[in-house]
Amino acid sequence: MIDRWNRTIDYIRISVTDRCNLRCIYCMPQEGIEARPHEEILTYDEIIRLCRCFLKFGINKIKITGGEPLVRKDIAFLIGQLKALEGMKEVTLTTNGMLLEQYLPDLISSGLDGVNISLDTLDPLKYQQITKKDAFMEVYSAIGKALNYEKLKVKINCVPFSDTDQKDLIDIAGLAKNSRLVVRFIEMMPIGLGKSFTYYSEEAIIAILEEVYGAFEPVNTVLGNGPAHYYSLPGFKGKVGFISALSHKFCNECNRVRLTSEGYLKTCLHYEQGTDLKAILRGDREDSYLEQMIEKTIYEKPVSHNFKGDNPQGAYELDGMSRIGG
Ligand code: 5AD
Ligand code: SF4
Repeated sequence: MIDRWNRTIDYIRISVTDRCNLRCIYCMPQEGIEARPHEEILTYDEIIRLCRCFLKFGINKIKITGGEPLVRKDIAFLIGQLKALEGMKEVTLTTNGMLLEQYLPDLISSGLDGVNISLDTLDPLKYQQITKKDAFMEVYSAIGKALNYEKLKVKINCVPFSDTDQKDLIDIAGLAKNSRLVVRFIEMMPIGLGKSFTYYSEEAIIAILEEVYGAFEPVNTVLGNGPAHYYSLPGFKGKVGFISALSHKFCNECNRVRLTSEGYLKTCLHYEQGTDLKAILRGDREDSYLEQMIEKTIYEKPVSHNFKGDNPQGAYELDGMSRIGG
């Protein structure tokens, strides 16, 4: 559907849990955050019912997120059910990769179209410092396994910050050299714990990588569903991309809304603005009422985030990324 600012909204990120098996320093405190009780989390039936409604508005691409979505039971079952809905174009998953290898066969059987794996360094010790778990090998091995499924799109998400060494950037980008991997560098957004980190800008990263790998060539064809833009590098099989919410604000092209694990439809990750769809779902209402509320909520999506503090649009989101779903 088209929102008030003439943007086509056709993509939704659905967080299926706020729990996570890692504690990335820019996302979760070491002791974790209090997880929402299970009864507050949407059931798979509720998610599927909502997705039928979203489809009526042309929202036909879904990203399953968390917390860590693979810690929720039977996530492959949900993906299979969503893929089977009439008109569904694409269902993809964002994961930290820790449990990916074990669930890959089921995810593939369910028809998963793509997986984004979060990885900020290729150094196992640094991985442990960032995520608080000694799990690098599990993630690295899962990437290799995922690439074996030729039809599965596989991307790496890396969120560097001021402490990140150039070597980490070079190594992570290098993953795209000999494989079809798409590596994306994401500018740290001032959300939750991310507020106390300084983002690494796209320009700075490109300058470092060009010295090692040669000139970046912008890719003009559309790749993926979102705000990332991509480059080819000399001799690289894969691509390198950037999601630069701060240095290249892309809100005018935003195509997405978000559903939290508690069933709150959020229209911009920076604001709390949205609608409690769970209350409607559990309030014995007809789908027509749900659809009316979905349409109204999305229509009123804020024009842009206000990460730089010059253009406020309402009350800011207080929850962190693990509750918002990235
Ligand atoms: N800014 C940008 N990306 C973030 N992520 C977590 N917190 C932030 C933040 N403040 C990333 C994770 C993961 C994805 C789901 O969101 O690293 O790749
Ligand atoms: Fe978990 Fe992702 Fe947050 Fe890391 S960034 S703690 S993997 S939800």
